[in-house]
Amino acid sequence: MKIVVASDHAGYDLKLKVMEHLKERGIEVEDLGCYSHDSVDYPVYGKKCGEAVMAGQGDLGMVFCGTGIGISMAANKVKGVRCALVHSVETAKMAKQHNNANILAMGGRVTDTELAVQMTDAWLDEKFLGGHHTPRVEMLNEM
Ligand code: RB5
Repeated sequence: MKIVVASDHAGYDLKLKVMEHLKERGIEVEDLGCYSHDSVDYPVYGKKCGEAVMAGQGDLGMVFCGTGIGISMAANKVKGVRCALVHSVETAKMAKQHNNANILAMGGRVTDTELAVQMTDAWLDEKFLGGHHTPRVEMLNEM
């Protein structure tokens, strides 16, 4: 399992903490930037992560900006990306069960580390339920 991660400056700190957790879980992680607190444009990094996941550079992706909103919007512009912005363990679980999200987004300015780790684990440990959710996910993939 390999996860590609990306952030802007506002999501940088949370990204590093989540990366640490992923590595502790034995997951290979590749950081696509940014690499400091210097101000950068979140669309660049959302797109990078989306394209990397669709190219198979990672099995899944994670993106971080201040709120998680802008970078999730950018990731979702890439065809085939199903990026879910999550704020609770429940939404993180649903992101896998119902939507089979291939990228998870979080906001570094609005999410504490413990919750971020719990949401990450919930998303990774849940299974996609399939069944009637499958054609809906396929509809998303065609958009
Ligand atoms: C950067 O200041 C901030 O706008 C960005 O990180 C993000 O929250 C956008 O959605």
